[in-house]
Amino acid sequence: MTSIRNIVILTGAGISAESGIDTFRSEGGLWEQHRVEDVATPEAFERDPDLVLRFYDMRREAIQTKEPNAAHHALAKLDAEWDGELLIVTQNVDDLHERAGARRVLHMHGEHLNAWCTACDVRSPWTGTLIDRPACPECGEAALRPDVVWFGEMPYQMDEIFAALRGADLFVSIGTSGAVYPAAGFVRNARELGAETLELNLEPSQGTAWFDEARHGPATRIVQAWVEEMLSLHR
Ligand code: APR
Repeated sequence: MTSIRNIVILTGAGISAESGIDTFRSEGGLWEQHRVEDVATPEAFERDPDLVLRFYDMRREAIQTKEPNAAHHALAKLDAEWDGELLIVTQNVDDLHERAGARRVLHMHGEHLNAWCTACDVRSPWTGTLIDRPACPECGEAALRPDVVWFGEMPYQMDEIFAALRGADLFVSIGTSGAVYPAAGFVRNARELGAETLELNLEPSQGTAWFDEARHGPATRIVQAWVEEMLSLHR
């Protein structure tokens, strides 16, 4: 990897696994414990809002007891020290990148610690529960929902993501199974746009064949090693 200046990093549930946050598709993962169509679609929310709100209330509460791990800290260090363009596009709705100190972070699937008012369209920081139908701090309506992108909804900030991919010399995918689009397609988009591509994951992802290089192992080990390599080779 020579003359790398602009980097786009995609992260998924695997980067938070060693912080104790369940992934979705690993053995015993969230989608084994719950059916996607019961808790993660707009139709589920219409049909049984209590079930959906309770599910996200539990997840929101849980992430607040977890801490960033060495992989989040390593990316925060890269963000702080990297002179070129850098964007961490995360599918994760936890705030562990930010709590590790990363600044250039975009949450394409929303954030647990926001509530979105369907009456006035304003997003407010939220750490408590939504099951009791609290009033929106902005408009006072009891119309808050989790600010999480459900299946069938459009991920956030796609224009910003594609602008970053167009300028990227290197695309790195960390801790994601490559099962959910459009994120799973970024590796192909990045290649077509001329970037080198690298996978860092516990095991080969569904899209592993699309990457120029793949390194497999736990994120706390392989992300830290890759960041040190980037900072020593490309200063
Ligand atoms: N280090 C690195 N990778 C890991 C680790 C670890 N310690 N533990 C698990 N992984 C890998 C798994 O091997 C798997 O490939 O992380 C990946 C997690 O995959 P998923 O559970 O499918 O999570 P993700 O890819 O983020 O899911 C994408 O699906 O349901 C939606 O909206 C949800 O954003 C999520 C999207």
